This record gives sequence, structure tokens and C-alpha cells, in this order.
Amino acid sequence: MENPERIQHKLTDKGYVPVYTTAIVEQPWDSYDPVEHGTWATLFERQSKLLPGRACDEFLQGLAHFGMSARSIPRFADLNEKLKLATGWKLIGVQGLLPELDFFEHLAAREFPVTWWIRKPEEIDYISEPDLFHDLFGHVPLLLNPVFADYMQAYGRGGVKAARNSPEALQFLTRLYWYTVEFGLIQTAAGLRIYGAGIVSSKGESIYALESAAPNRIGFDLLRVMRARYRIDTYQKTYFVIDDFHQLFAATEPDFTPYYELLRDLPSIGAGAIVAQDQVITRGTGEGWLLDGDV
Ligand code: PHE
Ligand code: FE
Repeated sequence: MENPERIQHKLTDKGYVPVYTTAIVEQPWDSYDPVEHGTWATLFERQSKLLPGRACDEFLQGLAHFGMSARSIPRFADLNEKLKLATGWKLIGVQGLLPELDFFEHLAAREFPVTWWIRKPEEIDYISEPDLFHDLFGHVPLLLNPVFADYMQAYGRGGVKAARNSPEALQFLTRLYWYTVEFGLIQTAAGLRIYGAGIVSSKGESIYALESAAPNRIGFDLLRVMRARYRIDTYQKTYFVIDDFHQLFAATEPDFTPYYELLRDLPSIGAGAIVAQDQVITRGTGEGWLLDGDV
């Protein structure tokens, strides 16, 4: 096992967290102690109770198909057998956040980096960097969905391209990831549902994103989303709603190079702002919003 090195710090939704070199670590499953399995159990049970009727069916089906349970922290190797058959994705163990380009290259190769360690009991509701629970429970179930699986790979390829394009292009693409993969909502026949990993892995936000009157909920529009600033320190002020994963895949299929040109000349939009063309599903009351701090 190589020892990954910290190479920089990156501002995330929970503050500055270390970024590691790309060393892949084998999941040290035998080293998890009863406290760590217990943390998984607590978080797993809590979210499993909250998510039926809140998370989309594709997410819940994925969770069920893997057979994840509260009993113990899943073994990446077991999940990989199912992933390989379903969509060809593979989980790789990592120490923490990877440099952007490494992360994109893994996604482009259908490899999803998962942090091997789980948060401490005192961090159960608040953790300063993504851990195993967020990465695994939040992101991995949807990798069994063929359309979403293809979207994630396309995103990785797009990231490699954007990195060659410009820092601005990377910023536009990061907003897209934020408002879809991390904080996306989806419209279904039964009502609005969650698919974003940042929401499904959070007790507070899985209720807030659907039930609070404070945030805006706006129909997904690619260029609009890429102009939208966001919150890294509070619940989102705005959620963007897709009709289905096909819409997301189709909207993001064209070459983004001309979009980046266009976006460069357009002003960004505040995290809580609504603009004239928006397809507003709910206009938020803005209750509790901090006025500054949009990223
Ligand atoms: N089509 C985008 C491009 O050409 C790549 C992409 C796909 C970006 C899916 C995001 C999501 O850059
Ligand atoms: Fe995440």
C-alpha cells in the first residue's frame, strides 16, 4: 500500500480539506473496529428510514440491489462484483479528495473514488471532509443506473476537456456537478424526489431540500445551472429539478466548448436569485439565508 501525500487544501462545503496524491489504497476492511461499524449502522439506519418517499426510485433500487445493510461497513470488493455486471463501474479506495484532473480521469475510466475511512462518532452530523458514508451511501447506488452511470463517465471526460480549456470552464463544470450529482432533485409521477449525493447522505438536508419553504426549486436548464453560484457552508438556496436522467444526459451531450465561450460573457447568478427565464417550481421564502458567502 502506498502512502498518499497531502498536496494542497481545497475549499469544500465544510471548509478547507486536504487534497491527496492519487495513490489508490486497498480498503483495509479488517481494520474497521466495532465503533466504526456502529457509525455506519447509525447513519445507514437513519437515512434508510428517511429516504423512502424522498429519494428517487433509481437510488432506492440501487441501495437494495447492493444489499447494503446496517450490519457492517460494505466491502468495496463485494459492491464491485455487482457494479461490474450492471454498468462496468468500479470503486477504488482513496485517502480523501483527489486533485481535480485525477478525479476526472478516474470517472472517465468508470472508476469512482471512495474514501476508505468513516467519520468519528462525534462527527456523526457534521464532518469536515467527505468520508466513506458520503461517498459510498451517497454516490454509489446510482452508479447501478445505466443512464446515470454514463452521465458520470461523460462528466469525467468533460472535466478532462475543461481542464485543458480554462479555469473558467472548470468553474462552470463544477457548478453543474454541484447542482446535479451532489444536490439534484428529480420530478416523478409521485412528486419531487432527491437524487443528489450531498442530500441523500444528510439527515437535515434530505428533509429540507423537499419540505422547507425557504429554498427555490427551479427546472433544470444547463446554461442557467452553469451560471449559478452555490453555497458550501449552508443548505442550498436553490435546487434544480430534472425530469429524468435522460434529460440530464441529453442536455450535457453536446460539445461544451461554445457554451464556455458564451458563459464567459454572461454574469454569474447569485445562489438564491431567480431570473426571468426560470421555470420556477417553488419560489423560496429565503428564510434563514445568509446574505454573503455564495461561492
Ligand atoms: N459534453 C460535454 C463537453 O463536451 C462533456 C460533459 C458531459 C460535461 C456530461 C458534463 C456532463 O464538454
Ligand atoms: Fe460527493
